[in-house]
Amino acid sequence: MEGDILDLIKSRRTITKFLPKYVSWEKISRILDAARHAPSCGNVQNWKFLVVFEPEQKEQVAAAAYEQYEIINASVLIIVCAEPDKAERYYGLRGERLYTVQNCAAAIQNMLLEAQSLGLGTRWIGAFDEEAIKSMFKIPIEARPQAIIAVGYPAEVPQKPPKYPIETIVYFHQWRLRIRDPAKYMHDTATILMRKSAAMQESMQKTAKSAVDKLKEKAQIIKQKISEKSEE
Ligand SMILES: Cc1cc2nc3c(=O)[nH]c(=O)nc-3n(C[C@H](O)[C@H](O)[C@H](O)COP(=O)(O)O)c2cc1C
Repeated sequence: MEGDILDLIKSRRTITKFLPKYVSWEKISRILDAARHAPSCGNVQNWKFLVVFEPEQKEQVAAAAYEQYEIINASVLIIVCAEPDKAERYYGLRGERLYTVQNCAAAIQNMLLEAQSLGLGTRWIGAFDEEAIKSMFKIPIEARPQAIIAVGYPAEVPQKPPKYPIETIVYFHQWRLRIRDPAKYMHDTATILMRKSAAMQESMQKTAKSAVDKLKEKAQIIKQKISEKSEE
């Protein structure tokens, strides 16, 4: 698994149950570092990350997250807050409403993947009472909590929920236009040649093997004939 980002992406699960185990600050800081390297519109980085690890505060957050009390066992809760005004200044309504959410989502996904790479589990929580969280942490009016990320050691890793197969979610050139063999359609010569060379290699191996078998057969016949002659 090590080194392969796709394996990491695929193996990440939303963890519902955490072990009551402490996660080192070194690991938490790596997760936060991953967040700040995420892409953002015009690189505005209009996000803030509120780190919560006091048990009473975690309890209050869990209550505000409509009683998702399992997160209390997570070592840390990271409240991801957006600063929509900063994006609005450059990109208007689109910046405020759309880019801001996307910026935070990119930072969140970076955190989830870094946590996964460190052997930790995460739970992305979007369901919470925004006003309750704001007043709990004295979050100013211009900032908006987007998500609570629970980070800890998983008590169990749930089964992978079904994900749509690639061909049902990918269209080509036009909405709903599906192609059976995307590589062929996209004139991906490298893929086509690779497939062809694999097929060619296989057929060549077969031909070579049958030639060798035939030669062996012939050699056997000759050998037999020689031994018959010497017996005469
Ligand atoms: C925007 C958003 C909000 C979510 N809110 C919650 C939540 O409040 N509680 C929770 O347990 N999981 C929440 N999740 C996690 C999803 O339930 C989870 O990603 C989904 O079931 C797929 O499972 P997977 O993450 O293991 O692939 C949220 C995920 C996203 C992206």
